[in-house]
Amino acid sequence: MASAYGEVYAEWRADPEKFWMDQAAAIDWFTKPEAAFDPSMGAYGSWFTGGITNTCHNCLDRHVSAGRGEQAAIIYDSPITGAKRTISYAEMLADVEAFAGALSDKGVAKGDRVVIYMPMVPEALVAMLACARLGAIHSVVFGGFAASELATRIEDSQAKLVVSASCGIEPGRIVAYKPLLDEAIELSAHKPEATVIVQRDEHRCELIKGRDHDYHALMQANAGRKVACTPVAATDPLYILYTSGTTGQPKGVVRDNGGHMAALHWSMNAIYGVKPGEVFWAASDIGWVVGHSYIVYAPLLHGNTTIVFEGKPVGTPDAGTFWRVIAEHDVAVLFTAPTAFRAIRKEDPQGSLIKDYDLSGFRALFLAGERADPDTIQWAERLLGVPVIDHWWQTETGWTIAGNPMGLGLLPIKHGSPAVPMPGYDVQVIDDAGHPVDAGTLGNIVVKLPLPPGCLPTLWNAEARFQDAYLAEFPGYYKTADAGYIDEDGYLFIMARTDDIINVAGHRLSTGGMEEAVSGHPDVAECAVIGIADTMKGQIPAGFIVINSGVERSEEDVEKEVVKLVREKIGPVAAFKTVMAVKRLPKTRSGKILRATMQKIADGEGWKMPATIDDPAILDEITETLSQRGIKKPDA
Ligand code: COA
Ligand code: AMP
Repeated sequence: MASAYGEVYAEWRADPEKFWMDQAAAIDWFTKPEAAFDPSMGAYGSWFTGGITNTCHNCLDRHVSAGRGEQAAIIYDSPITGAKRTISYAEMLADVEAFAGALSDKGVAKGDRVVIYMPMVPEALVAMLACARLGAIHSVVFGGFAASELATRIEDSQAKLVVSASCGIEPGRIVAYKPLLDEAIELSAHKPEATVIVQRDEHRCELIKGRDHDYHALMQANAGRKVACTPVAATDPLYILYTSGTTGQPKGVVRDNGGHMAALHWSMNAIYGVKPGEVFWAASDIGWVVGHSYIVYAPLLHGNTTIVFEGKPVGTPDAGTFWRVIAEHDVAVLFTAPTAFRAIRKEDPQGSLIKDYDLSGFRALFLAGERADPDTIQWAERLLGVPVIDHWWQTETGWTIAGNPMGLGLLPIKHGSPAVPMPGYDVQVIDDAGHPVDAGTLGNIVVKLPLPPGCLPTLWNAEARFQDAYLAEFPGYYKTADAGYIDEDGYLFIMARTDDIINVAGHRLSTGGMEEAVSGHPDVAECAVIGIADTMKGQIPAGFIVINSGVERSEEDVEKEVVKLVREKIGPVAAFKTVMAVKRLPKTRSGKILRATMQKIADGEGWKMPATIDDPAILDEITETLSQRGIKKPDA
């Protein structure tokens, strides 16, 4: 079928107001907005001002009223514990009402913040939707973060309550969450009034009397309770999701209710090509934006069945798990990060496990979160025989900036490109002075303001930082902090970040944040952390440390302690395992560490001696160290 993309994009361009009002008509409002865009509110205007709605109502009640109550809302499939459970829309609504009742008894009301620190279990979605029902603002924290990262988020959001679980389960080990939560509350200057803990049979935990409450006991006590949806403004926050910024202090990306629903609802059919009732699987984690948008909100808003998968692409139990889940639950579309496919390919290069499963209902694989390398895409295309579609977005936007919209009819796929801007996004490439560059020329990728519905209106309690990080450098534009180019056909190519963010197994991490942790070691005089290429995870962090003079312990001991420190401060998700003690760090004459040059050396990319370098000999020492450690790739 010929793609309607051009037409739809042109329709949006010609009349954005009509385009977005049409999308807003697909959701329920207590009070309909009179206009889509209001230029007078917010940093760059706001969406659906005056509209009153509720996201939980649109995810659950609406579908139950429309006769979808018996359809599966959630299929929980946990190869790591062996558990499987199907929860209908009606059951999910009952659970969410019960939990919303319990939360409101604990004093949680509209505008209050609730931190959710949970593994991939259905109770996590119940907690998110119960907050949405009450108009409370949730902030989900990924389970792979350490106590101090959790503490930062509890403190910054001033959470009234925390919902957590006794444990998460990783291959080969149980991660006891409760001690991490207790430590986080200890570390945070702000103390939540209460916690609710889901006790899991794999590892139960002690509850502190008066503060900690048992989830299952609360659910039992509140079973059958009716709790109405609290009306909220379209512009009220639905959630805060902290993401890595350029410092150790994460950025609290705020998501609103109205714009978010309109955009996500539109995306399910137009971008992913699914119809209500079909099974959609985002193999990610609710701790990341992909999980928020495409495990929870978009599929439920659209009346789909969503898979909550507690496992890994490999090792739970093997590299055929994804195919098993697709076949068993009749998944129409899978969305994951390229790294998951690199992991599967490494274990099963011939894809021999695919043959064991009936994948006839499977229509497309979507990839995002990091650059999709053409090699992996081609491998997946060959073995799966379905379109493999790269698309590009960020925590900040909450949905696709550029993609290839399956529901509108696919455009030709160009490997290495996430294709074209979605309606709502006027994507441009400009040089550092803010001038447009020619097709094919690398530059800063920016989006002309206003950002479309669903994108962040601000950062939580940090309006100045929001302006500074995204709007100040190129007035009139949102800075994506990605660099790349647009080719002659209008296809985007995302090449690199312009800041210190790295992408490790699809997880967004700040090397600046890691440097802050490393410099906390008493024996470290100075340090630099860079992201180096990794065939499986895309990038992994590597640290260089200069040890204080006079330290008598071996370099090896200090290196090991630094690894341990980052794991304690940031968490295992940082995958920070490589540290090298060096005598000196390469710097410019003004004292700036030459991280980009170090990264190019490690990756074997061509590099030029920076004109401003203070002492070129130091780069030889770095090259030597990287070679000794077997890190330096052959020069390109
Ligand atoms: N709770 C506690 N610890 C966690 C965790 C969680 N929810 N998630 C990950 N970790 C730990 C892991 O156990 C691992 O610890 P280790 O150092 O003791 O081995 C560490 O954090 C790194 O985890 P991860 O990046 O997941 O690496 P991995 O080697 O365990 O698995 C992949 C590699 C590719 C299989 C895995 O990253 C994956 O499935 N990626 C899919 C992509 C994805 O989900 N992206 C999210 C955005 S779309
Ligand atoms: P996150 O906020 O975790 O979703 O990370 C967003 C960042 O991941 C983007 O700014 C990009 O640097 C990178 N990214 C996400 N999707 C893609 C993609 N399809 N291609 C290249 N980079 C991507």
